[in-house]
Amino acid sequence: MRKGIILAGGEGTRLYPLTKSTSKQLLPIYNKPMIYYPLSLLIDGGIKDILIITTPRDNLQFRKLLGDGSQWGISISYEEQEKPNGIAQSFLIAEKWLDNSSSVLILGDNFFFGHGLIDLTKKTFSNEDSATIFLHEVIDPERYGVAKLDTKDNIIDIVEKPTSHISNWAVTGMYCYDKNAPIYTKNLKPSERGELEITDLNKIYLAEQKLNTEFLGQGFAWLDMGTHESLIETANFVKIIERRQGIKIADLDNLRLS
Ligand code: G1P
Repeated sequence: MRKGIILAGGEGTRLYPLTKSTSKQLLPIYNKPMIYYPLSLLIDGGIKDILIITTPRDNLQFRKLLGDGSQWGISISYEEQEKPNGIAQSFLIAEKWLDNSSSVLILGDNFFFGHGLIDLTKKTFSNEDSATIFLHEVIDPERYGVAKLDTKDNIIDIVEKPTSHISNWAVTGMYCYDKNAPIYTKNLKPSERGELEITDLNKIYLAEQKLNTEFLGQGFAWLDMGTHESLIETANFVKIIERRQGIKIADLDNLRLS
């Protein structure tokens, strides 16, 4: 069974002073803590075993909030990332816990919403031997990992924070890998910013011709909640959908065990 990892580490310095004494991923997004959104995406996608990677400082607070997951019919474990040494470091931290399983890694500050998203994640997560990245079109690709595509929309390269224009297709913070992710990660070298880059791991899968791509088109919203503006924008988005349509997003506290 594919296992899920949520990376909720980092110092959140862009959000100071909000994150000086608490984790970014515990901040409120309208009526729930931020981490509820990626967590419910994994649960809705059928993942039963989830590892949450936190800073040493915030570990206890996440445990208090989420417990062992049994209230939702899943299992939640916890590990710590001592220093923010990159997203790919998750696989070194999670290697033992993964125990040769395939995985889906989601960044704790990434928000996904859209028609058909649950069907898409269920389908992608259940295909255990596959590696998949999810692309979304943005107007500011220089802030992200960006996919270079050929004329048939096949991915031919991925560039982290490109300085010249490659495409508008950003690589979102949700990544599916086969069981080899920890082994491949061990071959990565820290980048110029001193991090084990998830883009470099994706490039290994690309070179092995094992990287699938899903395009999250117009019906999808993808927001990363790492700035003051995006915190409030995402909160407003959730509020509008919930109040207007009467549905609840990431409504874990009312989740019925099936
Ligand atoms: C990271 C990844 C980048 C990805 C982004 C998604 O960027 O390095 O490839 O597009 O997350 O949120 P960072 O948050 O480290 O700037």
